Amino acid sequence: MANNFCILGFAGSLRKRSYNKALLNAARELLSKDAELEIFDLGGIPLFNADQEQQPPAKVQEFKTKIKAADALVIASPEYNYSIPGVLKNALDWGSRPHVDNCFDDKPVAIMGASIGMLGTARAQYHLRQSCVYLNMHPLNRPEVMVPFAQDKIDKSGKLTDEQTRAKIKDLIESLVVWTHRLKKT
Ligand code: FNR
Repeated sequence: MANNFCILGFAGSLRKRSYNKALLNAARELLSKDAELEIFDLGGIPLFNADQEQQPPAKVQEFKTKIKAADALVIASPEYNYSIPGVLKNALDWGSRPHVDNCFDDKPVAIMGASIGMLGTARAQYHLRQSCVYLNMHPLNRPEVMVPFAQDKIDKSGKLTDEQTRAKIKDLIESLVVWTHRLKKT
């Protein structure tokens, strides 16, 4: 396992039965044998306070350490009020500070999202991509995985049952691995 391709995933939702957490779980099921996906729960990360950025809380230190160790990241996020949830923005803010220790620097990242609405988090994803630029991440352009009407595609146990969406997520993760290898060659 030590030489496996390591992906760290996190969801922009703290909800126990989050549809976005379900997307991450599906991604983990769909990975090839030479890759692994660890899912990090953003629960417990306090609100960002610049007074603490030199000595961040333990949960933030753990988050940053895991991000740095990962070959690539995958973020699954809901859309809140046409943007990304505060939980996700807060985690990005902590991880980006202090400026000289931005844990997201140079990281390949894949983005996906599920909503109960018809646009499947499209607006939030473009806001997230904007932050990725400032953080100097390398977001994968395609495929775009926007999952509308998630309540019809994820069952009560949290399993993603929609075959088309499962295929898209498989494509996303496989493309992320290829993208990361391409970036490492440059
Ligand atoms: C939402 N939801 C929502 N959906 C959407 O498509 N566009 C939006 O702008 C919003 N805004 C919004 C704001 C807030 C505060 C909440 C709580 C919800 C609905 C959202 O898609 C739904 O709650 C998802 O189930 C959230 O994702 P998780 O928690 O299931 O991963």
